[in-house]
Amino acid sequence: MIDKSNFSDYKKYLKDNLSQKRYKHSLNVANAAVRLAKKNDVDEEKAYLAGLLHDVCKEISKVEQLELIRQSELEVDQAELTTPNMYHAIAGSVFVRINFGINDEEIIRAIRFHTVATDKMSKLEQIIYLADLISADRDYEGVDKMRRLCMKSLSKGMLEALSFQIVSNTQKGNILFESTVRAYNEYVLKERF
Ligand SMILES: [Fe+2]
Ligand SMILES: [Fe+2]
Repeated sequence: MIDKSNFSDYKKYLKDNLSQKRYKHSLNVANAAVRLAKKNDVDEEKAYLAGLLHDVCKEISKVEQLELIRQSELEVDQAELTTPNMYHAIAGSVFVRINFGINDEEIIRAIRFHTVATDKMSKLEQIIYLADLISADRDYEGVDKMRRLCMKSLSKGMLEALSFQIVSNTQKGNILFESTVRAYNEYVLKERF
């Protein structure tokens, strides 16, 4: 059961520790997550909370992020450690446990995998991954298609998002994360066969 009485404290923390733009993004992701939760029979409060906190560590120093990563109980792909932009997801999942006392495994995993995804994601994990891509502040080319697919089904949204992520990473010559590839394969099998 989620204790809603802490939500305003979390918001205050985010407001004090994130840029205005990122704070707004966090609220938008929380709202998008609630929309997807409603549609998919998922606990709306958990979705709101995970969406709100997904980028909680985005603006602390990389040294602090690495310190948190060292305390992670979840899988850390070595490739992720080569990509500082990815640190905040792992760090955030540890941060909310230590500093906010959030022990809900699904919320922790949703924050942890919101950048790279993984196989066998719960509906909540998929929702946070996708809400981050379709939040009201997103305006990349293709965002409307992405929003439509997500409203059709989480699985279709995941396949589209992961294909996009893999193509764009390889085009830029960036490393691929093993968990992203595992996730991609899972949704290809689900959607195409
Ligand atoms: Fe993020
Ligand atoms: Fe985000």
